[in-house]
Amino acid sequence: MSKFWSDVVHKLTPYVPGEQPKLNNLVKLNTNENPYGPSPQVIKALKLEATDSLRLYPDPNSDALKAAIAQTYQLNANQVFVGNGSDEVLAHVFQALLKHDKPLFFPDITYSFYPVYCGLYGIEYKTIPLSENFEIEVEDYRQANGGIIFPNPNAPTGIPLPLIEIERLLKRNTESVVVIDEAYVDFGTESAVGLINQYPNLLVTHTLSKARSLAGLRVGYAVGSIELIEALVRVKDSFNSYPIDRFASAGAVAAMQDVEYFDKTRNQVITTRNALIQDLTNLGFETLPSGANFIFTKHQTHDAVDLTSKLREKNIIVRHFQSPSRIAPYLRITIGTDAQSKLLIDALTQILRN
Ligand SMILES: Cc1ncc(COP(=O)(O)O)c(C=O)c1O
Repeated sequence: MSKFWSDVVHKLTPYVPGEQPKLNNLVKLNTNENPYGPSPQVIKALKLEATDSLRLYPDPNSDALKAAIAQTYQLNANQVFVGNGSDEVLAHVFQALLKHDKPLFFPDITYSFYPVYCGLYGIEYKTIPLSENFEIEVEDYRQANGGIIFPNPNAPTGIPLPLIEIERLLKRNTESVVVIDEAYVDFGTESAVGLINQYPNLLVTHTLSKARSLAGLRVGYAVGSIELIEALVRVKDSFNSYPIDRFASAGAVAAMQDVEYFDKTRNQVITTRNALIQDLTNLGFETLPSGANFIFTKHQTHDAVDLTSKLREKNIIVRHFQSPSRIAPYLRITIGTDAQSKLLIDALTQILRN
């Protein structure tokens, strides 16, 4: 607390990202990064970008990147917005599209950055409880609202919501913006991007941090109607003209274009996930269905805090959320390589034996 702080700063409860330990030799399964490096085409593009041209500002409109994203989904470039990670894109979404008289709706168990943005921008919100099975029930969102946002698949549960349910929601909810945060969609969840030409109030956000292995580059995007995108551009141009630097642009374009590498690595993650779920079941874990590059799993008898700290003693880090109490028995485990899965299963086998 300081007398020099603006009022709003006193009231902020900032987001706490997963730990990024400065230790080597860790099996790091706590922040949903991709275990595989980015496409070799990305590395090539980044090297080519390391030239004298860095003295010049990048393109404020990121036209090359928007074109690559538009081409991926058969959209027009003016239906695409890009930012410094999807967290920045989401921040602009909250400010530009989700601050209204009526409250914003999101699930009670979801990405914990959403209430943080509400605090930052003074947005009123209401949380809608997930079902007993931790599922989003779109019926429960059938009330007057100032906007709706949730991830699909949801985080930290990993549970995918079928596209037909999203369309059901969109058919009924025409008076406010519906944002589907598809950070993890490429690991086996149906995308809503194909619906944006039908529903002018639908905005879909994506990141290059997960399925395109570029968490370190910080690139995310939103696709939606021209009307929604224009609001985001207005906020961005009142905040930072150059959120995508020259490296980010070059690397992200190459990543979007290397579809073969993208498909190969995401399919490998899905295969590893399915095998890991089976191995965990054999050890007495119950895992929620996952359409993501992570799983949410609990042991029938062993305490999650204890398991987390014992895994840590063996240099394996997973994520545990203390609250709300409903999710306290669960561990959120990022899918790594097959070799990392084996280390995890060997460690858990030892821990559970003692
Ligand atoms: C649901 C969800 N949305 C968005 C993000 C933000 O990703 P990034 O800022 O790396 O694009 C995350 C990151 O973990 C996430 O879990």
